[in-house]
Amino acid sequence: MSRSALLVGAAALGAAAACWGCATGRKLPMTTLAPKSDLAEWIYHLFIQVTLWDALILVIVVTAFILAVFFFSTRVGEAAAPSSAASDLGLEVAWTVGPALILLMISIPTVRTIFRSQPRVAPAGSLEIRVTAHQWWWEFNYQDSGLETADELHIPTGRPIRLQLLSNDVIHSFWVPQLGGKRDVVPGQMNHLTFEAFVPGTYLGQCAEFCGLSHANMRFRVMVDTPDQFAAWERSEQAAPATASQNVSAAVLAGARIFANSPCTTCHRIDGVSKGYIGPDLSHFGTRTTLAAGVLSNTPANVAKWITDPEAIKPGAQMPRLGLAGEQLSDLVAYLESLK
Ligand code: CUA
Repeated sequence: MSRSALLVGAAALGAAAACWGCATGRKLPMTTLAPKSDLAEWIYHLFIQVTLWDALILVIVVTAFILAVFFFSTRVGEAAAPSSAASDLGLEVAWTVGPALILLMISIPTVRTIFRSQPRVAPAGSLEIRVTAHQWWWEFNYQDSGLETADELHIPTGRPIRLQLLSNDVIHSFWVPQLGGKRDVVPGQMNHLTFEAFVPGTYLGQCAEFCGLSHANMRFRVMVDTPDQFAAWERSEQAAPATASQNVSAAVLAGARIFANSPCTTCHRIDGVSKGYIGPDLSHFGTRTTLAAGVLSNTPANVAKWITDPEAIKPGAQMPRLGLAGEQLSDLVAYLESLK
């Protein structure tokens, strides 16, 4: 084996080890090899099944090839035996029927999984959530409770989830590798994604269809809660956010006034304060772990950075610079972080 072949082999082994590490590691993995929902499990089992068929075929082909090399090769100086392959009916049938059978073995479970993953009607007791994709963030509307949030979707275990996928502008694709396959999010056509999550945790999602400048920054998280955690989250979301009437600091009060008199109110809704609907709902912004569609963690420093220059963090973002600085900026940040 040449040195370059050895290097390629070592690199492939390293990549495989790294990938196994990402599938089993503590950081949030974006992998389809560690499924946490029924849909993701069906896809995983299909992948394993097809891979095993492929491995079997590989073994048969390589074995036949090696046997042919040893038993049917001609020595130097020997005349080759006349071939009968051109007129061998048995061989013709074998290499026509063989590939057809292989395709059948792969397509039957694949088609079955496709149909299984797309039930026409919502399963009984489903939690229906409207997902609206925007350039470049995700809006989530809970159809039963009317709750609205952005970029961080909370769902409970043990209950079927039915996502109604719609786009506000161009074609996007909703993808949370550990919870299921990709599904296109198309303007003017509602697609669905139905699954039930098994394991509580935080799962990373990503828009999987090129949708413009900040496609790679169109991330999101799915927080799978236990039913109790989910009920608590719903209760806290239903409560009104911190307002001027509550016992809050002077900075928060000043920030609330700045927000109420700023152009922010045209785009962002805050329960009881503003009605904007172009950008994410900020009513409970302080409870989210991230901002700017999962690009930054939600800390006061990052919120200030985002407000100061959104374009620098998410190129193409529609949010303008407000020109706030100093105390005004820190007051506004304190107010936003107080919205729990
Ligand atoms: Cu949305 Cu890519």
